[in-house]
Amino acid sequence: MFYTRVLRRALFRLGGGDPEIAHERTLRALTLLSRHPRLISALHRHFGAPAPRTVFGIHFPNRVGLAAGMDKDGTALPAWPALGFGFVEVGTVTRHAQPGNPRPRVFRLVDSEAIINRMGFNNAGADALAARLHALGPLRFPLGISIGKSRATPVDEAVEDYLASFRTLRPYADYFAINISSPNTPGLRTLQDRAALDALLGALRAEATARLLVKIAPDLTDHAIADLLDVCAAHNVDGVIATNTTLSRDGLHPADAPLAPEPGGLSGHPLTTRARDVVSFVAKETSGTLPIIGVGGIHTPDDALRMFDAGASLIQLYTGLIYHGPGLIRRINRAVAMLA
Ligand SMILES: Cc1cc2nc3c(=O)[nH]c(=O)nc-3n(C[C@H](O)[C@H](O)[C@H](O)COP(=O)(O)O)c2cc1C
Repeated sequence: MFYTRVLRRALFRLGGGDPEIAHERTLRALTLLSRHPRLISALHRHFGAPAPRTVFGIHFPNRVGLAAGMDKDGTALPAWPALGFGFVEVGTVTRHAQPGNPRPRVFRLVDSEAIINRMGFNNAGADALAARLHALGPLRFPLGISIGKSRATPVDEAVEDYLASFRTLRPYADYFAINISSPNTPGLRTLQDRAALDALLGALRAEATARLLVKIAPDLTDHAIADLLDVCAAHNVDGVIATNTTLSRDGLHPADAPLAPEPGGLSGHPLTTRARDVVSFVAKETSGTLPIIGVGGIHTPDDALRMFDAGASLIQLYTGLIYHGPGLIRRINRAVAMLA
């Protein structure tokens, strides 16, 4: 396969093997590509895969989305559907622009097909994203916007911080992903607790109608997830995104053991089963009534189909794209279309 044999090798060598440099250059190339509608159309013909589905009242061209974190500031937006994605989640953005954690902050665990990251919400801020989305005009695919807490804002002032991003970006989002599950912003995950989540969702709901989804961590106990789902139900949340990265280091290939102690969230293949189990638990707890976006360790069409079987209405990928390229999106879409 061209991607794994040629392109991935070249990408993994860029910047002396620094994954963040590979990421920046790829994003820059896709941003340039986004300015060439003819190229975009040609790619779309190759990778595009219509398999429409309506979920929480939104029409999705297909059920495979780009997960948050890949295109945080939305610089390459038109390129993603051309690679086969049916929707895109930008962000996580914060009220204030911020640089994130010091580098290095991304690590490839190649034998495990995994990544550890502690980016810490590096992003240009909600105002900059709003300006970019305004300039782009209407998009031809659903856009999710993930919002999180600025690092400089104390946890007990988080509600105002989320609200500010929400107000700025409301005109542009088909749905908001409320990110309370990143392990890389101190205190953020405490917002998954009942009282804190109740206050946050109450404030967002009081603002106006917008589709709200809550993104959860794979490290919560069943009991904590059940609690969280109660709060989501009380505020008519439109769906859950399961899951974010994990603090666990289970399932790593022994060759990657030296990188295991790096602080941060683990994504990719070692997360496949846990993310699916969380999706399955949420689906059972809510009797299949709450739409779920399943994300975590989807690296094959079979992983995708099993995520749908577990109860996901839509899925997202990040790490699988790094290791398998856009051909994986096409293969997944084909597998899904065969079942439809
Ligand atoms: C480098 C990197 C940065 C990420 N940044 C974000 C983020 O800003 N917001 C978020 O909600 N999730 C973020 N994620 C988590 C992904 O969206 C996804 O939930 C997780 O990686 C599991 O999916 P995967 O195994 O397909 O990568 C990030 C993941 C990676 C690898």
